[in-house]
Order: sequence, then structure tokens, then C-alpha cells
Amino acid sequence: MPATTIARAMAGLLLVAAAPASGDADRAKELATTVCAGCHGPDGNSPAPTFPKLAGVQREYLAKQLNDYFVGARKHYTMVRKREAEMMAPIVSTLQRDEVGPLAAWYASQKPSPGTVEDAKLAEAGRKIYLDGNPDSGVAACAGCHGEDGAGHPRYPRLAGQYQAYTIEQMNQFRSGARSNDRGRVMRLLAGRMTDEEIKAVAEYIAGL
Ligand code: HEC
Ligand code: HEC
Repeated sequence: MPATTIARAMAGLLLVAAAPASGDADRAKELATTVCAGCHGPDGNSPAPTFPKLAGVQREYLAKQLNDYFVGARKHYTMVRKREAEMMAPIVSTLQRDEVGPLAAWYASQKPSPGTVEDAKLAEAGRKIYLDGNPDSGVAACAGCHGEDGAGHPRYPRLAGQYQAYTIEQMNQFRSGARSNDRGRVMRLLAGRMTDEEIKAVAEYIAGL
């Protein structure tokens, strides 16, 4: 077969592969802007500090979390009108398996809004923990995995600009073991060595990244 024919055949294959993908993307956008938007915002920047911002967070990480809620590996309980209720698991269970990847990709492609530092002194204390950890208690530097700027990598999620309340809540959940879907117990071990004050400080610093 001449090279041009092969090239044309390949281009045809690519088109076939791309067609359903754009349909998936449209469906993901539709879900995100209807089902999820009330809590996570119309563009993944949540309006309330107890709902995590998802905009710009790594696709691989978001897909893992959705999957973990789906199979029950990540659970959380929030107080809703004085009663404990799960929020994400029931929502995720209404999704089709093949909607998870495109939803994660849609959020990853949204522009994250900056967070707000409310206590500059506390953030300064958090900066030390974020960049150097706490050698005395064996807390590793957050920057080592999540990046100095908090932008993250596919395995280590973006933290930059996240709401303080959400970060604190997750650190507390890792520390108590209520959240246990971190492979290799990395976050549970780390959080278990941190004090309330250190967690508050590092969350304050992260909000300003
Ligand atoms: C009623 C409010 C609500 C709705 C609607 C909602 N979420 Fe959530 N979502 C939450 C809360 C609260 C959390 C944090 C839960 C926890 O601590 O595990 C969360 C967490 C997540 C996380 C994990 C984020 C992280 O940084 O680890 C993902 C991903 C997510 N939601 C995606 C979605 C998607 C996609 C939809 C729509 C299909 C959706 N959510 C709809 C409230 C909601
Ligand atoms: C050795 C690597 C490593 C280090 C060091 C580390 N993390 Fe993590 N972190 C991870 C991994 C991996 C995950 C994702 C866990 C999962 O899959 O649920 C994570 C998840 C998180 C989450 C949850 C994010 C979300 O959106 O729900 C927070 C918050 C967090 N880390 C904060 C920190 C802080 C604060 C420090 C420093 C005190 C730190 N991490 C240090 C590897 C690390």
C-alpha cells in the first residue's frame, strides 16, 4: 500500500475514534452543568468551602475518586439537617460507567479559581510544613509529591487554591482513617503525625497557592 493510502486510512481511523469521544464530552458537560453544578459550581469552582473545587484537578485523580465512591472505597458522611448523610456515593451510582472518564476530563480542563488566604500569619506557618515537612515528627514535605506550587501530578492531585475547610476535612478523615482510599496509606500515615494546628496552617497556605 502506498504511504498516502496508509496515511488516509489512518486519518479515517482517527476520525472514527474521535467521533464518539466528542459525544462523550458533550454528555460530560451536560452532566457537570446540571447534576453536579449545584455543589461543584457551573465550572468546577464550588461556591461553598465544604464542596471541593474540581476545576483543573488531574483527570486521573478525579476518575479514581469517582470510581472509589462507586465501589464504596471512599465514603464520607456529612451532616445534613442534623443527620449523617452520604452525598457523593448516591450521585455517582446514577452515572454510567463510561461517563466517569469524560466527566473527570471535563473538570480537569476547567480553569481553577484562586483561593483566599484569611490569616497570613497562619499561612506563613503552613508554608514551612508544606515545603519542608516536620522532621521532628516525620511529616514529609507536601511539596515533594503535590509540587512546590501545589499544581500536582497525575498521581498526586492538585491542591492549590482549594478551600481551607475541605482540605482540613480531608486531612482529618485521613488521620482518623474515615478516608482510606490512598494507596500505600501515604496520606493516612502523614496526617496521623500532624497536629490540628499543623493541619489548619497547611490548609491556609494551600488556599493561597
Ligand atoms: C449535593 C452536593 C454534591 C453534588 C450534587 C455532587 N457532589 Fe461531588 N462532592 C460533594 C462533597 C460534599 C464532596 C466531598 C466528599 C468527601 O469528603 O469525600 C464531593 C467530592 C467529589 C469528588 C472528589 C474530589 C476530590 O478532590 O477528591 C469528585 C471527583 C466529585 N465530587 C465529583 C462530582 C460529580 C462528577 C458530580 C456530578 C455527577 C458531583 N460530584 C455532584 C458534594 C456533591
Ligand atoms: C508521598 C507522596 C505524598 C506526600 C508527601 C503528600 N501527599 Fe497528599 N496525597 C498523595 C496522594 C497519592 C493522594 C491521593 C490519594 C487518593 O488517591 O485518594 C493525596 C491526596 C491528598 C489530599 C486529598 C485531596 C482531595 O482533593 O481530596 C490532600 C488534602 C493532601 N493530599 C494533602 C497533603 C498535605 C497537606 C501534605 C503535606 C503535609 C501531603 N498531602 C503530602 C500523596 C502525597
